[in-house]
Amino acid sequence: MKHQRKTQLFQFLDLLPHRWGFALYHKLQQLADKKTLPQKIKPAERTFQTARDLCETHQVPLEGGTLIEIGSGWLPILPYFFLTEGKVGEVHSYDLNEHYQKKAVAALNDFFSTRFPNQFPKVYSTRYPLASGLVYHPKTNLVDAVLPEASLVFSRFVLEHVRPEDIQAMHQKFAKELPSGSHLLHFISPSDHRAHSDPTLSLQDFLQYSEAEWNRIQTKFDYHNRLRLPQYLSIFEACGLEIVFVSHDNPEPGSKRHQQFSALDIHPDFQHFTEKELTAGSIVVLLKT
Ligand SMILES: C[S@@+](CC[C@H](N)C(=O)[O-])C[C@H]1O[C@@H](n2cnc3c(N)ncnc32)[C@H](O)[C@@H]1O
Repeated sequence: MKHQRKTQLFQFLDLLPHRWGFALYHKLQQLADKKTLPQKIKPAERTFQTARDLCETHQVPLEGGTLIEIGSGWLPILPYFFLTEGKVGEVHSYDLNEHYQKKAVAALNDFFSTRFPNQFPKVYSTRYPLASGLVYHPKTNLVDAVLPEASLVFSRFVLEHVRPEDIQAMHQKFAKELPSGSHLLHFISPSDHRAHSDPTLSLQDFLQYSEAEWNRIQTKFDYHNRLRLPQYLSIFEACGLEIVFVSHDNPEPGSKRHQQFSALDIHPDFQHFTEKELTAGSIVVLLKT
């Protein structure tokens, strides 16, 4: 869908009462979802493999440990990889919203129990048929939650959707409440998500707007904080966390993505960043308390 039509749709949903807006949003997401389960699992598996390699390199033990996931999203694919292949003991997954759907979780269970017949934990039936070891905390703000004693906190494609003050509050809480030497691993997608479904748009298109202009375009359904890599790192450092590892990519000079970026009129709010900082994408950060 062209980005203007998607924006108009979200702006319409945003006008509805909260419950109706979210009910319709879920229905429309289901209708628009053209990806098969394997197409969703593949990229999540690559994330898990990167996470497992980083944990091995930096001596972050997984086996038998307790993990916290920030932002459960629609399906527990990453928690399931941590429980089966990573052999972790428990994953506590938190989300401000409640996006899991019984049927979709059941289909994921079938996939995992076929692929990992000896490792996939038993499924227990509560509100959702989740594998044992996964504790789902929907409609929960982590900042107010009593944290389990976790050795690793992870998130994938979540922090870019969290307000900067909430990123700071949750990291202050982790620094204060998690045992010293615990780790936090974040996969962050700082690009303009409208460009994912509309390739005519630059991945940095939204950096042309002032905050007020961007707030007139985005809604609660597609909120993006537009933070650049140095801003994430300053928040983590200000919370007293050690930065153990950082990686990111940048568009190849001369590529279509680079040409699209070069054609933008970057808003003065972002002009003090270098090109490398403005275009840093696919960010991976490992932190330590
Ligand atoms: C793109 S989805 C995450 C996808 C999921 N992590 C995955 O890998 O498939 C972003 C999720 O973060 C959740 N979220 C946004 N702000 C949050 C916050 N402050 N605390 C917890 N979850 C949050 C949203 O409700 C949404 O479910």
